[in-house]
Amino acid sequence: MSEQTPASTPAASGTPGGVPVPKRVRVHHLAQMKERGEPITMLTAYDAVTGRIFDEAGIDMLLVGDSIGNTMLGLHGTIPVTLDEMIPAARAVTGAAHRAMVVADLPFGSYEASPQHAFASAARMLKEGGVHAVKLEGGERIAEHVRLLSQSGIPVVGHLGFTPQSENSLGGARVQGRGDEAAERLVQDAVALQEAGAVAVVLEMVPAPVAERATEVLHIPTIGIGAGPGCDGQVLVWTDMAGMTAWAPRFARKFGDVGAALYTATRTYAGAVRERTFPGPEHTFAE
Ligand code: KIV
Repeated sequence: MSEQTPASTPAASGTPGGVPVPKRVRVHHLAQMKERGEPITMLTAYDAVTGRIFDEAGIDMLLVGDSIGNTMLGLHGTIPVTLDEMIPAARAVTGAAHRAMVVADLPFGSYEASPQHAFASAARMLKEGGVHAVKLEGGERIAEHVRLLSQSGIPVVGHLGFTPQSENSLGGARVQGRGDEAAERLVQDAVALQEAGAVAVVLEMVPAPVAERATEVLHIPTIGIGAGPGCDGQVLVWTDMAGMTAWAPRFARKFGDVGAALYTATRTYAGAVRERTFPGPEHTFAE
């Protein structure tokens, strides 16, 4: 496990039975990483299998994103995703991740109506999903929601720029914050979230100079996705990162070809069954 815990982030907290238990990444670690200029790593995860792998690989923050809609549930976008669909995914990831901070999206329709609406959904996400923080989309308009959650002991990650839950009013997946006025509004929104108590802000599809400016102005970390290298951290949807999809957005890089490896393994398994070379004696109980 020691290899899986980067030196810069929390070290193992103990060694019960000789197995080092990694210390959980907490809100104050994110602040320290920003202060020290250490990039924060974040990746989506929707189940225990990938949650465990990404946690062991040393990812600092796992996001149970509402992108589960398009990546796992076969839905068109994030808008149809419900809290009842998100909670079991969150529980699976939190059950598997020992070191990463697990953050879950509050899905569309589960928080917008009022701060109390947001609190009821966030409380379920913490109690039933076991997550350590929730993510909400929006700026000033949800600042009071963020304030109530923060004051109630629920860490909140903001999400600005292209916010997929508003794709219908934004006219699709488009870069946000272009032009002086829009850029200024985005930075103001980020400051409003910080003042309300947010612990970090995701910036999605934002021009790099605007993300850099927000990163400079804020004392909480910015986590970019399609927002250039100037953010305090980066997040990707894991299926884009690992090459599981035929198409990925321009801002995503494919760091592996897991989809192709899975395809090959599947074909090989099916071939072995058809040729009766699997199961072999070593997979068979004689009596
Ligand atoms: O749901 C998600 O995967 C997200 C990321 C795009 C940041 O919100």
